[in-house]
Amino acid sequence: MTMAVDWSSDAFFDSPERDSLDGGTTNCGPLWHSASVRWGHSMHTMCSYHGMFPAKLAHYFIQKYSRPGDLVMDPFSGRGTTPLQARVEGRRTISGDLSPLAYVLSRAKASPPSWTAIMKYVDELEAAYNRAGRTDWDVPADIRMLYHEHTLDQMCFVRDRLLRRSNFADWSREDLMVAGSLAGIMHGAHRRDGTSQYLSISMPNTFSMAPSYVRKFISEKKLAKIEQNVFERLRDKLARLYLDDITGPDGETHVQDASALMSKSSVASGSVDLIVTSPPYLQVVNYGAANWIRLWLLGIDGVSRDGGQGRRTLDAALDHRHTYASYKGFMLRTMQEMHRVLKTDGVAVLVIGDVADPGKEPVALAKKIWDEAGGETGFRLLDLIEDNLSVDKKVSRIWGETKGQATDRDCALVLARSDGNPVSYVENVDWDEPYKDGGPDAAHLRGRLARAGL
Ligand SMILES: C[S@@+](CC[C@H](N)C(=O)[O-])C[C@H]1O[C@@H](n2cnc3c(N)ncnc32)[C@H](O)[C@@H]1O
Repeated sequence: MTMAVDWSSDAFFDSPERDSLDGGTTNCGPLWHSASVRWGHSMHTMCSYHGMFPAKLAHYFIQKYSRPGDLVMDPFSGRGTTPLQARVEGRRTISGDLSPLAYVLSRAKASPPSWTAIMKYVDELEAAYNRAGRTDWDVPADIRMLYHEHTLDQMCFVRDRLLRRSNFADWSREDLMVAGSLAGIMHGAHRRDGTSQYLSISMPNTFSMAPSYVRKFISEKKLAKIEQNVFERLRDKLARLYLDDITGPDGETHVQDASALMSKSSVASGSVDLIVTSPPYLQVVNYGAANWIRLWLLGIDGVSRDGGQGRRTLDAALDHRHTYASYKGFMLRTMQEMHRVLKTDGVAVLVIGDVADPGKEPVALAKKIWDEAGGETGFRLLDLIEDNLSVDKKVSRIWGETKGQATDRDCALVLARSDGNPVSYVENVDWDEPYKDGGPDAAHLRGRLARAGL
């Protein structure tokens, strides 16, 4: 029997309260909270990502501090919120992230294939699968427990096709779009009627729960593996992503350490107009463990367990395990590199959440870092925007996580070079979405017809 489980990333989008549309506010007024939580281009919904910021936050700063044609950068791009929002608003983008998952999502959004090309690709993939027939794939038990055998067989076929090119840089636009979209539907909650847009047993979509916990839950709740046709679910997902017009300059995307990306050999000094980014906070999210299921799709094995090869490699590379002292050093270097790549009148926005050990007072990390290291960066503080979201709406609280160190408050450090005088291009940010309903493409029509039951 399929259990309908009330875990859903939709919990994050619960009823509005206070004086803003989405229940949050900032110390400077509602700002981006005055727009709906669902605000943004349809392609943002490709794949949930722990630690992501809302598209409307990126839009707010993009409108305020850049113009079409300007260069917008995000060296910790995560799911690619900044590059996507910037490119559909006509800005050039450069982004990077050391996590292969973040890279795939960011590049898929920064340079998407056309709707016609991606549909042709999925059709060919399905035809090739049908010709190949079933295969006896070598799949880790932690993955196998989540999927119906037929669904897993199709997923393994697609994975095998993608991994024929071992270097991500060689992946085509279509490879990346399929990988990113498939990652987005790999796990999530079933509907109450037992159907699902996701491929797995009923489980949270936002991040991958620990495998031992999932195993226990499957057995206790008797969670069913439903047989899903991967190609059909993928087409449905893509139709939702392509609802809005995807016109915009192709972005440049790197799978690279932020320091390496911002080094002299990669980005010219004084070339970037705006940085909108969110570096890893202090030991809040492990970007390997939180994504072990999706990373397996991308060929990164052994991320699910502490001692696994994939986990050790990612932990050694990603900056999510610092002590406060080493975190401060990492942030100082990061800000100094940002200072070098920014134009004199450019702006850098760093979103950093408060952190708290269980039972202890939260630490206002952004302010503390700025107070202790800001003087050595060459920047001055233009604004410090405290962004409050009620605790029960914070993603990490969706399903009662207690050990997490995230709090209900993020801070945006808005920085200008000490020798610069940035212009604020708009007094009131325009929340119109020009790309909405702008796609005369087949996906749009298809979505409309599907909704009308035709
Ligand atoms: C808070 S998340 C960014 C979320 C992003 N703003 C979004 O909306 O999805 C921080 C990101 O930093 C990445 N990261 C951690 N250490 C890094 C490093 N040294 N260089 C580049 N990226 C790194 C992580 O993989 C993670 O995706």
